[in-house]
Amino acid sequence: MLMIIFFVDQNYKNKTLGDILDIKKIEAVDKPIEAAKGLPNECYTSEAYLEYEKERIFCNKWTVVGVGSSIPNPGDAKPYNLLGIPLILIRDKDRKIRVFHNVCSHRGFKLLDKPCNLKNVIRCPYHSWSYDFEGNLLATPHIGGLNNHQFKKFDKTKSHLKEVKTKIWMDIIFVNINSNEISFDKYIKPLEERWSKFINHKDQQLIIHSNDYGNFNLDVNCNWKFAIENYCESYHLPTIHPELNKVSSINDHYHIQGLPNRFAGQGSKKYEQLIKGNKKFDIFPHWEKSLLKNSEYIALFPNVMIGLHVDHFYVFWLEPVSFNKTKEHMQMYYIGNNSANGEELKDLRKENARFWKDVMLEDIDAIEGMQNGRNSPAYDGGNFSPIMDQPTHQFHKWVARNLI
Ligand code: FES
Ligand SMILES: [Fe+2]
Repeated sequence: MLMIIFFVDQNYKNKTLGDILDIKKIEAVDKPIEAAKGLPNECYTSEAYLEYEKERIFCNKWTVVGVGSSIPNPGDAKPYNLLGIPLILIRDKDRKIRVFHNVCSHRGFKLLDKPCNLKNVIRCPYHSWSYDFEGNLLATPHIGGLNNHQFKKFDKTKSHLKEVKTKIWMDIIFVNINSNEISFDKYIKPLEERWSKFINHKDQQLIIHSNDYGNFNLDVNCNWKFAIENYCESYHLPTIHPELNKVSSINDHYHIQGLPNRFAGQGSKKYEQLIKGNKKFDIFPHWEKSLLKNSEYIALFPNVMIGLHVDHFYVFWLEPVSFNKTKEHMQMYYIGNNSANGEELKDLRKENARFWKDVMLEDIDAIEGMQNGRNSPAYDGGNFSPIMDQPTHQFHKWVARNLI
């Protein structure tokens, strides 16, 4: 009996999209917004669908798995689990960040199970095979019998760790597990061009992670896509963020639809720098003076939301845990070391982090509410407001196109 249950449980892994849901429901997403439906319930409630999405979205695209400032020193390493795929994030001796599959090439033991600082090698706890930080296999103790650490017919160079295609951009670690996406530089170019009125490549290097009030995590009981959808729109400002709406109202926002379709979001024209007495954060040096009150909030598909302001930057990235559980990771950056870590601006950083945490907490009810509603068999993907929901529709189209 047990064997039968196990078989049924594993069987979803080989399913096609057509086995999981009616493909017509996915096709209905990619229509003009007036006639389009949203993604169907299965995209939020089905384990089999998540398995499919893992391959089509998380392995095929440039996916975020962390930030560089969480492994600041050479030898810093941490494991990450991308929907069951075990990975290692490590900073090598030249300070370069690398991502490897977290598995020993000998008998497949998972190499690293908690964050640590490694001195010289990644050593497998099972039989002590050791790899350097570039993934080369260095030592194979007793491979040729007791006290014989070489074996003539064994070619070490073929048993290195398997490295994942990785790119760091504004401290964000992107990976392309299947090595099949366009180059990251091409991928990010439309956004960099959009933001060239705010920051250039040199300015990107100015951001520094704050050590004191620089990060927080939130566990939410919903599918990761709801966080992206909610982030893309300002439609919910008056209802979900009444306080924020008083200072930067729905009228002060504009839509952002990045083309080609890789990102979407919203901008505000009413951003006010935090000021206490004569204390304020340093600003990006090349930001257009007429746009100092602009701030932009962009979801870069699939799983990272970024916020750019004249005096700070944040990265709010999503760790999908299951079809209805997500870990949200917030990381905050300032311009230059004084703003990021100077003692006299600590209160300001605390207040800024508090502000964003409150906003993100307010959003949890909204995104969990959508998850709860998606259990209804009466819901068919719903509709979009042709005016207010354009960026959300854009994200749905991106998902739909990548599924088929
Ligand atoms: S499995 Fe890693 S050394 Fe044997
Ligand atoms: Fe919100």
